[in-house]
Amino acid sequence: MKKINIIALDGPAASGKSTLGERLAKYLGFVYLDTGVMYRAVTLAVLNQGIDVCDEPAVVRAAEQMDLDFCPPSCADGRSNDVILEGQDVTWQIRSSAVEAYVSLVSTYAGVRNAMTMQQRKIASKGRIVMVGRDIGTVVLPDADLKIYLDASVEVRAERRYTELIQRGQAAEYDFILSDLKRRDQIDSTRTVAPLKAASDALVIDSDTMDAEQVFQYLVKIIQSQY
Ligand code: CDP
Repeated sequence: MKKINIIALDGPAASGKSTLGERLAKYLGFVYLDTGVMYRAVTLAVLNQGIDVCDEPAVVRAAEQMDLDFCPPSCADGRSNDVILEGQDVTWQIRSSAVEAYVSLVSTYAGVRNAMTMQQRKIASKGRIVMVGRDIGTVVLPDADLKIYLDASVEVRAERRYTELIQRGQAAEYDFILSDLKRRDQIDSTRTVAPLKAASDALVIDSDTMDAEQVFQYLVKIIQSQY
């Protein structure tokens, strides 16, 4: 039996990666890292500093200098941990529509990706980690023991994101969410550096007809039988 140490979990926006990644990490006693949070934090830092998102060198500098930290949750409002940017709790701010509007553009910049990839590899070097993102199995951790690509149709993902926002007490409009997911998918999968795609050796799961519990149980079975 192989020993599992590193899990890479990729997929498009709102495919359920974060829920699944967090549950898997808890089940295995592993660290959980959602790399989307890092790209969102860079975007927020850029907006907060009044940097033009189209000014690539300035955005890259902000990414390289960003002071980002993760702490255990300070309150029970649905967060899995506190996201601290330059000493400020920005856990929900990184989920704002302003950040959502620019995060995919910021994530196309090679310098931004290099800075994030270096940090992600450093964190993963300690092992026992579930890392979630778009390019984890393909670029960041190509030697991961288990690679999962979690997919779902854009309509199902939009429904899930809609429900998530409503449950959080935020305003949400299905048609806007749907078109925004399509927009982000398009940028994420067509960028030159580290585009969103399944690694050739990834286990691809289409979760259109599976809920979070079913996907989790399916993976637990695979882990128990192969590792
Ligand atoms: O939560 P959601 O699935 O909507 O997105 P996220 O995982 O928080 O990622 C936000 C954005 O960051 C994505 O749309 C990508 O543009 C970018 N991202 C990336 O380029 N590479 C990653 N490893 C993770 C996120």
